[in-house]
Amino acid sequence: MKIRKAVFPVAGLGTRFLPATKAMAKEMLPVVDKPIIQYAVEEALDAGIEQIIFVTGRGKKALEDHFDHSYELELSLRNKKKNDLLKQVEQLVPETGTIVYTRQNEPLGLGHAIWCARHIVGDEPFAVLLADDLIKTKQPVLSQMMQRFDRLRASIAAVMEVDKDQTDKYGILDADPIEDNVVRVRGMVEKPPPGEAPSNLAIIGRYILTPEIFHFLGKKKTGAGGEIQLTDAMEQLLKTQPIFGYKFEGTRFDCGDKAGFQMANIAFAMERPEIREKLLAFIRQVDQEQARN
Ligand code: G1P
Repeated sequence: MKIRKAVFPVAGLGTRFLPATKAMAKEMLPVVDKPIIQYAVEEALDAGIEQIIFVTGRGKKALEDHFDHSYELELSLRNKKKNDLLKQVEQLVPETGTIVYTRQNEPLGLGHAIWCARHIVGDEPFAVLLADDLIKTKQPVLSQMMQRFDRLRASIAAVMEVDKDQTDKYGILDADPIEDNVVRVRGMVEKPPPGEAPSNLAIIGRYILTPEIFHFLGKKKTGAGGEIQLTDAMEQLLKTQPIFGYKFEGTRFDCGDKAGFQMANIAFAMERPEIREKLLAFIRQVDQEQARN
């Protein structure tokens, strides 16, 4: 069965980036010149997703406008013959009807945000992308996962090994390796303190989920941080069907974290020939100046 729909929880308040996010959606913060959310939407569309489901909230209007035409801007770029820019802003608007919006009325957690999309997803397996996790790779991580899904026919979470003292930032798996880059999950726990974690294999924000997950999300049990956690619902789902972890190929940046966000900017900027040399020279200069002081 084809994965046609992808859910993007984008209702978060972005408190870690205040004051930048006081009047602006955190998903609109740019990595070089593209908002974080656009990287994730492009990844999904590249992987063949047909419907983008945004679970949004108050103050996210810019997000909706970003994926729509801006006639004034397009006209002005056309008049000024800025054809490359015009093409870019036109091309980022998916075909009408591709994006569907629903709202999460209360900030009750990631699990709750996904549950808000239940009627739009319906009774089919679907993807979840957390835009904060920006992954630099040749083949979109979601399409890497879809290839595994074709064979495994079960829920899959993208995973990577993290430092042992970082487990309290992630959903952590207890899992057995079954083949190259694939593990079978035995248990999972949301944000366990270092020392209590079953491993250092952490969930990164890409999932393929079977629709049965909605049953467990609907129980609205609160977990870590007093929130309704996706990891807890998956742990329940695991009692009724298998779940796998997939060690993806690519470099992941945590754009929900200030340092990770800056690293993403540097890594993506370094790929751009028009920025690379200037940036490298500047970083060396700053480094030397700081060493002197
Ligand atoms: C969420 C999930 C967590 C996962 C993480 C990946 O946490 O709850 O299981 O490991 O995303 O980025 P959050 O970062 O929203 O706190």
